[in-house]
Amino acid sequence: MCRKKNKTMTSKQIRQAFISFFESKKHHIVPSAPMVIKDDPTLMFTNAGMNQFKNIILGNDPIIHSRVADSQKCLRVSGKHNDLEEVGHDTYHHTMFEMLGNWSFGDYFKKEAIEYAWEFLAEVLHLDKNRLYVTVFEGSPDENLDRDDEAAEYWAKYLPLDRIINGNRHDNFWEMGDTGPCGPCSEIHIDLRPDSERQAVNALTLVNQSHPQVIEIWNLVFMQYNRKADGSLEPLPNRVIDTGMGFERLCMAIQGKTSNYDTDVFTPIIKEIEKITGSRYSNSSEDKIPVAMRVIADHVRTVAFSIADGQLPSNVKSGYVIRRILRRAVRYGYTFLGQKAAFIYKLLPVLVETMGDAFPELRAQQTLTGKVIKEEEESFLRTLETGIRILNKYLSENENQKILDGKVAFELYDACGFPLDLTELILREKGKTVDIKEFNACMQKQKDRARNATAVETGDWVIVREGEPEFVGYDQSETETQILRYRKMKQKDEEYYQIVLSKTPFYGEMGGQVGDRGVLTEKNMQE
Ligand code: SER
Repeated sequence: MCRKKNKTMTSKQIRQAFISFFESKKHHIVPSAPMVIKDDPTLMFTNAGMNQFKNIILGNDPIIHSRVADSQKCLRVSGKHNDLEEVGHDTYHHTMFEMLGNWSFGDYFKKEAIEYAWEFLAEVLHLDKNRLYVTVFEGSPDENLDRDDEAAEYWAKYLPLDRIINGNRHDNFWEMGDTGPCGPCSEIHIDLRPDSERQAVNALTLVNQSHPQVIEIWNLVFMQYNRKADGSLEPLPNRVIDTGMGFERLCMAIQGKTSNYDTDVFTPIIKEIEKITGSRYSNSSEDKIPVAMRVIADHVRTVAFSIADGQLPSNVKSGYVIRRILRRAVRYGYTFLGQKAAFIYKLLPVLVETMGDAFPELRAQQTLTGKVIKEEEESFLRTLETGIRILNKYLSENENQKILDGKVAFELYDACGFPLDLTELILREKGKTVDIKEFNACMQKQKDRARNATAVETGDWVIVREGEPEFVGYDQSETETQILRYRKMKQKDEEYYQIVLSKTPFYGEMGGQVGDRGVLTEKNMQE
C-alpha cells in the first residue's frame, strides 16, 4: 500500500489539504484562471498553472503577492503540450486536468520549493517515502546550461543519491511554449506498483518511461529565463518558482488506486455512464467499452468547463478544438456504447455535484452548458452515421489501401463534419492512416476559395435523407425531387442555404460557365 495514513481522504479533502498547507506557508490563494485564453496569441488554452502569471514572471506586471497557490484548470490538447491521443487508452492522461501549484515571484527559490514539496507529500499526505523518486536537469552544453547540482544537493537531504536521477532537456527543462518563461525543473515521480513487481524490476529503470504506475506527480520548475522568438535565452528579472502537481494522479496515489478513473474524481461520472448506457466498466485498455467510457468521462469535463468559461463549440480556433473533442466523445459513445441519441449532456449534474464547489462557474453555467452540449451532440449524430457509412464503403472498396486518400478525408470533414483526428482515429483502429498532405492541400484550396468569395461562413451539412444526387438535365428541365441535405451559409450579413437534391436538372457552375437558374417549389405550397 502506498500510503500509511489518510487512505480515506476524498478528492475534495486532498485539494483542500494542498490549499491549507500553502496558506500555512504564507501563500496567497487565488482562484483558477479561465481555461480558455483570449489575450495571449501564443496560447489557446491554459496549459499550465503559470499561464495566468506570465506577465508577472516576465516583469511586465508588478508583483502584488510574492507567494501564491491555487488549483488551476488546464487543457492540453494543442500546441507544445498535447495529450489527446493517450486519453482513454491509458489510465493517467487527460485533456482537462487540475494542476495544484505554488509560486514564488522573487521570494523563495529551490531550497524552500523542495522542502515544501517534500513536507507536503511525506509529512502531510503520508505518501510512502520509499516510493518517491526525483529527477534533476542534467545540463545542456549546447545552450551553456550546467547540471542542476543545487537542486540535487537539496534533494539529498531527503532521498538516497541513487533515487535522484539525471533528466534530459526534454523532460527536465520546462518551457511554456515556443517562446516565454522557462527553466530547469525537478520532477517527483511515484512508484505505485505492488511489492512483488517492485522487487522484480527496479523503478529507476521505469521513471519517465511511460509506465502507467511509475508516474510523475509534481513538477518543480526553477524559472530563470525567457525564451525569445529567435531561440535565445534571456535571464528573467526575478527568479521564480513555478510548481505543478497533477491533482488526479495525486488522488490515485493517495486513494491507493491504479487508475485515475478509479478515484472519486471520476467514479461518479463513470457510474452515470454505466447507468445511461447499460455497459459495464473495467480497467481493460484492450476492451473498447471501458476505453470509450474513459474518453467520455474525460471529454465531458473539458467541454463543460470550456463552455462554462465562455468558449462555445464552433468552426474556428479554440471553438473548433472543443467541437472536435465533443465529436470524438460522441463517436466513441455511438460506436462502442451503442448510443444513437444525445446522452453526454446528461452527465452534467453528476459533474457539477463532483466539481461545482471547487469551480462555482460550472454550477452557474449549468443550464447553458447542458443545452449547448445536447444541441452539438444532436447535430453531429445526424451526420455521423452517414460519414461512417461513406468511410466504411470506401474502405471495403479499397481494402489494400493502407493510406486513405486525403480527398476522402476532406470530403468527410466538409460534408459530414468529421474532424481529421476523428477520421484518423477510426482508421487507426483498422491499422490505416490518412494522406495528411493531401488533406491539407484540399483544406487550403477550400480556404482560398472561401477567401475569394469574401469570407463565407459555412454551417455543417444537415442530412435529411440518404442518397446521392442524380443529374437528369440531359433530357429534362423540370423534375420532382427531394432534399437530401442542406447547410446554412453566411456571407456578410446575408444568410442563405445550400441544398443538395435527390434529382436535379440544374447543371452547376463548371469550367467558368454560369450555373443554371430556376425555381424550387414545395408540393403543397400555395401559389
Ligand atoms: N509549469 C510547470 C508544468 O506545467 C509546473 O507548473 O509542469
